[in-house]
Amino acid sequence: MRPLHEQSVVITGASSGIGRRTAIEFAKRGAQVTLAARNDSALKEVASEIRRDGGKAHVVVTDVAEWPQVERLAEAAAAHYGRIDTWVNNAGVSVYAHFEDLLVEEIDRIIRVDLLGQIYGAKAALPYMRKQGEGTIINVASELGVRGAPLQSIYCAAKHGVKGFTEALRLELDHENSGVRTTLILPGATNTPFFAHSRSKLGAKASPPGIVYEPEAVAEAIVFAAEHPRRDIFVGVSAKSYDWLQRLSPAMADQMSLMAGASIEKQKSHEPDNGRDTLFEPWTGHGAERGDYPGRTSSWYTKVFEHHPALKVAALGAVAGTFAAGLLGLARRNGNGHETGNGWRLRG
Ligand SMILES: NC(=O)c1ccc[n+]([C@@H]2O[C@H](COP(=O)([O-])OP(=O)(O)OC[C@H]3O[C@@H](n4cnc5c(N)ncnc54)[C@H](OP(=O)(O)O)[C@@H]3O)[C@@H](O)[C@H]2O)c1
Repeated sequence: MRPLHEQSVVITGASSGIGRRTAIEFAKRGAQVTLAARNDSALKEVASEIRRDGGKAHVVVTDVAEWPQVERLAEAAAAHYGRIDTWVNNAGVSVYAHFEDLLVEEIDRIIRVDLLGQIYGAKAALPYMRKQGEGTIINVASELGVRGAPLQSIYCAAKHGVKGFTEALRLELDHENSGVRTTLILPGATNTPFFAHSRSKLGAKASPPGIVYEPEAVAEAIVFAAEHPRRDIFVGVSAKSYDWLQRLSPAMADQMSLMAGASIEKQKSHEPDNGRDTLFEPWTGHGAERGDYPGRTSSWYTKVFEHHPALKVAALGAVAGTFAAGLLGLARRNGNGHETGNGWRLRG
């Protein structure tokens, strides 16, 4: 993998939130960035901010749900910078609603942007990366890519799809020793304009449940993955807890979600919905990085354990060892054995 200051990086969804912060962080480290989304004026704002600080940015207005536009984005980035080292599939939309309240065109659109948009991105980037013999495709999924949640059924379907697609693609590319890496980023709730941008049929603006992180925390993981090959990175210990709970007992995860209506009620804010969304048309005017739910700017869990998976294995080993020692101690105390000169021997 080339160092960031030698990389050409494409970021979709760069007009707002996580993509906007990620583009700025890449540029700060010397990467040449291509910014893609639909809101032309917001993209130009990000590009000017980057250039003002001495960075290099190129804007390509793109709707990721349209294959010809994504193909053109790759052509434009490669023509402008001569190569594509990292491609970040980040653009996303959602509709907060009970499944039966969704219109078919809303269902189609979420899948087209959140799932097909990422598949198109990989398809467009790969020919350039193959020719170079190296590259990294970073797909931004969500904690809802490992565990479903109510009111976002199609978004969850799309993010589970992104996870499955990324796994399958990784195996094909690794089998061939292609030199092209794939990383799945799984953020928890993040303080971006996502909740204002999402269409809501709840009679209220959507809001993030649980612990919230600032866009910097996700950008940090994406930028890290562009230089350090990682299979997947959960952003925030709460996102990883979703995964652990789901692996341990999906039924228990269901019960915890349903307890006191937790996962339904916590996704509704006390504010009325703004009546605007980005499902079919971009937000107009200025883009923004942050939303209305301030959170933590960094996750120590992600920086220690997700960036260094060997530490995660060691920590899990230590937890398992402590648990086993605890069980042994319990068995001893329950007296179904007797002590010998060499220690404890269990009987019976
Ligand atoms: N915020 C969270 O809590 C959270 C948690 C987990 C995962 N994520 C994921 O993080 C990613 C970024 O979301 P965010 O939180 O930063 O939300 P955001 O602020 O609403 O940003 C979404 C971005 O996607 C772009 N976009 C939407 N539809 C597009 C289309 N058809 N073609 C091209 N670009 C499009 C938007 O730009 P235009 O409108 O200008 O096109 C915008 O730049 C998404 O994939 C989201 O699912 C977010």
